[in-house]
Amino acid sequence: MFESLQAVPADPILGLSIAYKNDENPSKVDLGVGVYKTETGETPILKSVALAQRQRIETETTKTYIGSAGDAGFNDKLAKLVFGEGNPVLARQCTVSTPGGTGALRMAAEFIKRCNPGATIWVTDPTWANHNALFNAAGIQVKSYRYFDKDNSSVDFAGMMDALQSVPKGDVVLLHACCHNPSGADLNQAQWLAFAELAKEKGFTPLIDMAYQGFGDGLDEDAFGPRTLAATLPEFLLTTSGSKNFGLYRERIGALTLVGENSTRVAILSSVIQNVARCIYSMPPAHGAAIIDIVLGSTELTELWKTELAEMRGRIHELRSLLVDKLHARQGKKDFSFITKQYGMFSFLGISKEQVHRLKDEFSVYMVDSSRMNVAGINHSNVDYLADAITKVL
Ligand code: LMR
Repeated sequence: MFESLQAVPADPILGLSIAYKNDENPSKVDLGVGVYKTETGETPILKSVALAQRQRIETETTKTYIGSAGDAGFNDKLAKLVFGEGNPVLARQCTVSTPGGTGALRMAAEFIKRCNPGATIWVTDPTWANHNALFNAAGIQVKSYRYFDKDNSSVDFAGMMDALQSVPKGDVVLLHACCHNPSGADLNQAQWLAFAELAKEKGFTPLIDMAYQGFGDGLDEDAFGPRTLAATLPEFLLTTSGSKNFGLYRERIGALTLVGENSTRVAILSSVIQNVARCIYSMPPAHGAAIIDIVLGSTELTELWKTELAEMRGRIHELRSLLVDKLHARQGKKDFSFITKQYGMFSFLGISKEQVHRLKDEFSVYMVDSSRMNVAGINHSNVDYLADAITKVL
């Protein structure tokens, strides 16, 4: 039975880490997978997370099953982090812990199929490469809608709204809450308000992928989209991740939030989504959820975590300006100032696939073929080498 299988090509994002690891050039630069790095190129455990983890290990009393919804404390605090304490939507939502943000997306796909097996998911053009693969693997048709204007390196909002006019009720529109992956180009507040009104008018269901809360403008600022939808719409889905803002990448902790019309409806949604989990992995991993529950349950640890998050955010903002200054000091062919107007870990450099391959082959600079770079991989020691390399391939 196994003989019919062919090897699958390396993942367009994760495959870069392996190639980078095997590269012996001491000047190599890793701008591939979206992982935060410090000035010295490490991805350390956050201090707030390490303290919470110690507390967890000292106080944990059982390893018994946790239940399909996962950690109730985490689910509750995560929903409050997204929507804000006291938001009335908290009474008409259910949040379940999932194995990472990717697991949340797969759960969302299965839930959507239960609601409407013929639904199409509309994703931004472009989007995170794994969105397409993941939804296709779940058996859902994926289509894209206009989002990023390459000529202006910004959101083509008029094009997006125009494309979404034809999305019918029963279909799902996926939008990134903040720090759009791969472009870094986000909707502004007025655009979120207009998107929410359009969803209300057309009746399609938004699925908001929020993998980077706190990496854009701030925890509350980055949640403007979901909060606007909560104030406008009866129903939508939201996926979140603890990988980036808590640095819990390998613990695989994320969440799926289902917002329904009222608490009676939400009780049904909650039973359905727990059944979905039961049929895939039964119960989510508990460790990452427990850590986040402890951090968000302690005023001191929450303050420490917010400071650490602000440091990561601030460093990425600075690196954006640093790279642009270095590039502009070296050449006048291309204006890179758009990089400073974008948010989160990623931006497109706006160069061709051939130029990206030259960067890898000639300079050991690794980024996704689309020219998406992880800005957090830049530091004061590699920025001159990087700017030189980019200038040479322009
Ligand atoms: C990325 O986009 O690089 C990250 O979200 C990691 C991943 O799983 O692709």
